[in-house]
Amino acid sequence: MNEAALVLAAGKGTRMRSRLPKVLHRLAGTTMLARVLRALDGAGFARPTIIVGYGAELVRHEAGESALYVVQDRQLGTGHAVRIGMDSLPAEVQRVLVVNGDEPLLPSETLRQMLDLQQQTGARVVLLTTHLANTRGFGRVIRNQGGEPVALMQESDLSAEQQTIDEVNLGAYVFDAPFLRACLAQLQPHPPKGEYYVTDVVAMAAEGAEIERPGTAAVTVSGGAEVLGINDLVQLEEATQALYRRTNHRLMASGVTIVNVASTFIGEEVEIEADTVIEPGTTITGQTRIGRGCVIGPHAHLVDAQVGEGCRIVASTVEDSTLEDGVAVGPYSHVRGGSHLGRGAYIGNFAEINRSVVGSRYKMHHFSYMGDAVVGSEVNIGAGTVTCNFDGSAKHRTTIEDGAFIGSDTMLRAPVTIGKGASTGAGSVVTRDVPPGSTVAGVPARIMKEGPTLDNDEQLRREG
Ligand code: UD1
Ligand code: CA
Repeated sequence: MNEAALVLAAGKGTRMRSRLPKVLHRLAGTTMLARVLRALDGAGFARPTIIVGYGAELVRHEAGESALYVVQDRQLGTGHAVRIGMDSLPAEVQRVLVVNGDEPLLPSETLRQMLDLQQQTGARVVLLTTHLANTRGFGRVIRNQGGEPVALMQESDLSAEQQTIDEVNLGAYVFDAPFLRACLAQLQPHPPKGEYYVTDVVAMAAEGAEIERPGTAAVTVSGGAEVLGINDLVQLEEATQALYRRTNHRLMASGVTIVNVASTFIGEEVEIEADTVIEPGTTITGQTRIGRGCVIGPHAHLVDAQVGEGCRIVASTVEDSTLEDGVAVGPYSHVRGGSHLGRGAYIGNFAEINRSVVGSRYKMHHFSYMGDAVVGSEVNIGAGTVTCNFDGSAKHRTTIEDGAFIGSDTMLRAPVTIGKGASTGAGSVVTRDVPPGSTVAGVPARIMKEGPTLDNDEQLRREG
């Protein structure tokens, strides 16, 4: 069937009290718009048409090539927005899915269910409804004696009796396209703002419906996070909480201990294996994977981190980096920039590892910076050691070979290599390569003790 999807996203979202277009506000790191587009994609609409208006350029920038756009210059209501959208669609389109851009958590399956119901019944419009204890801000569903939806009423237009209706319009519709086109031309503006309501099409559809082809049909879902529409920042927070709760419950169901869900914020794409404990105050986002038996937190922040088994991260940030099994980080440290920490590495307090690869059983207990470094295994970094990797214009590499011992407060002026098993004295400023096995000290560092003479093979290997 020739079908299309429209996303209504031209409104400013006045109730958000924000300059940012409403659909660009984020829930758990992802904008409402991106979430709606993901749901549509899952329902078979890879390239829907977005009705843009307020902040059109920003909205286009967010969705890019994944959508088509039409501009609604003046926001004259949802009915007007749909009309502009329909005008942009080819005449052959027989069926159209319309979704409000501020319903970010509607699942693809629900949209699919609406499309299926339209297919089965041939209804002119299929609605999406739910029953809510708090109907705040939603239009209500009016049904006839036979239980068929016959109208959608906006909150401000409800009679005293209708106020008690708890079935609400969730702002997603499947329309028979030719029928919708005919109705849009007949919509009347509503006082006081003179807005056209797409919801008025429902009463038109119910009227004069044929027996064999119902005017309206509805998919009614049970409540929960999926149905939260967002008009203000309080609702944004509620929906965000609902999302986090859902992810936390998924993880707990698979054996992850979350000590306190209220203070744990885990993105939907994060994967964590069983028997890992997430301590309070922890945020984990992006494409993060965490193995078994880890303790993460309290107060850890992980973004796009790959964490092996049995790791411990306390009050520290790990971004875009990989930790092999048994690594410990923190408290108060920062690992970032694609760094890779070998098995059993230990990063203590106030340390930063940036764009560096360190080997197994690396130890860096206090106040240190490793930037652009390649470090072997069993290396000990004394307190206060710094790779001076930036000369004001370019970054340079520091190489530290296996078993080296870097004394406290050593400055490693890159590019520089510390040979295998070499040592630096406390307070050294190392400006030249240190041969394997030797000891250097001073400012600038000089050789205090030569390393053992290298055998021929080792010599040849080094000259390489
Ligand atoms: C709308 C429905 C209401 C439903 C609710 C569900 C109407 C008249 N009311 O109310 O029945 O319960 O959604 O969330 O449709 N938009 C445009 N152009 C406009 C006006 C709005 O693109 O001229 C967009 C907005 O950006 C928004 C969406 O349409 O994404 C819905 O508009 P909004 O003003 O939030 O409608 P509600 O008052 O929530
Ligand atoms: Ca809304």
